[in-house]
Amino acid sequence: EKGGFSSFMDKEIHDQPAAVRDTLLGRLDEKGRLTLDELHIDESVLRSVDKIVVIACGTAAYAGHVARYAIEHWCRIPTEVELAHEFRYRDPIVTEKTLVVALSQSGETMDTLMAIRHAREQGAKVIAICNTNGSSIPRESDASLYTHAGPEIAVASTKAFLAQITAAYLLGLYLAQLRGNMYSDEVIEILDELQKMPEKVQEVIDNEKQVQDLGTQMSDASSVLFLGRHVGFPVALEGALKLKEIAYIHAEGFAAGELKHGPIALIEEGQPVFVIVPSPRGRDSLHAKVVSNIQEIRARGAITIVIAEEGDEDVKQYANHIIYVPQAPSLMQPLLATVPLQVFACALAGAKGYDVDQPRNLAKSVTVE
Ligand code: BG6
Repeated sequence: EKGGFSSFMDKEIHDQPAAVRDTLLGRLDEKGRLTLDELHIDESVLRSVDKIVVIACGTAAYAGHVARYAIEHWCRIPTEVELAHEFRYRDPIVTEKTLVVALSQSGETMDTLMAIRHAREQGAKVIAICNTNGSSIPRESDASLYTHAGPEIAVASTKAFLAQITAAYLLGLYLAQLRGNMYSDEVIEILDELQKMPEKVQEVIDNEKQVQDLGTQMSDASSVLFLGRHVGFPVALEGALKLKEIAYIHAEGFAAGELKHGPIALIEEGQPVFVIVPSPRGRDSLHAKVVSNIQEIRARGAITIVIAEEGDEDVKQYANHIIYVPQAPSLMQPLLATVPLQVFACALAGAKGYDVDQPRNLAKSVTVE
């Protein structure tokens, strides 16, 4: 069933172009317009939403963090992302105007399910974004938007993550259109970019050898750091999580802007640091800021592994290793930049001789609180 791959994780990394494509499938009509008829929630309810709370655990929570940037930008609705187990127990402010979006691959995560129950008791509407048909989370939600990643076997999540981002983006675009924040032609333009992503993800996968070699080469590392900014920040967190989960080495993700407020003290000679660089074509000069972060850590002896957009020549001189991903709008970058981090973790853990599909102490779905 591994289809010739050495592990399910490896296979599922390669399934990602299909996971994104299938999650988009059937949700656009022949004119490229978005149709989410499956969301059986009254449109007037969705129009009156005044806050969105995304709840999830683990990788799904990082997908939620990515989605937040897009949803707030497109819909202008205040959006929070919270770990389900923290949300439930802090007496959160939830009303009938709160839309809760629960993200879960398995649909059986008890922490997330308890948070859903709590939110619904307060009158909130819950939309589940889930990969498993008929599982508990969609059953207990008001509506569901399924990700079509196919069954995910490896404990460490890969293709579900990309599919969750894709589905959450569809939901964000749908709400933006419904509420009049976006004209339908703007939505069609973004959907068009989204539809180009499977091919671009495939391009990243086609270059996996470079990253696999890096993973093998660095298998003695005792700690790896990840830096990212804007949507690159949750990508950094996800990159670190993959390494913790399957390679059992200390790994941490930071917001690049936070570097000078603390984490830079960790940098010493030989410390590997992944940096996800925003597009140089983006607004807000975030590219220049992250490039200057790379200079700062390089000056202190870090080994920099830079993930940048094709054509970004400026950053090259500060990179010990550079991994190029195809050009895409900023909000789409997580669908590309995450892939090398997955490949790296998988190769590094493999080089250490670990079973990447069944990491110690972890279960695919945690059905206890
Ligand atoms: C953890 C899994 O226990 O649960 C992670 O090991 C996963 O891989 C997290 O991201 C959340 O799971 P789910 O099924 O709710 O997305």
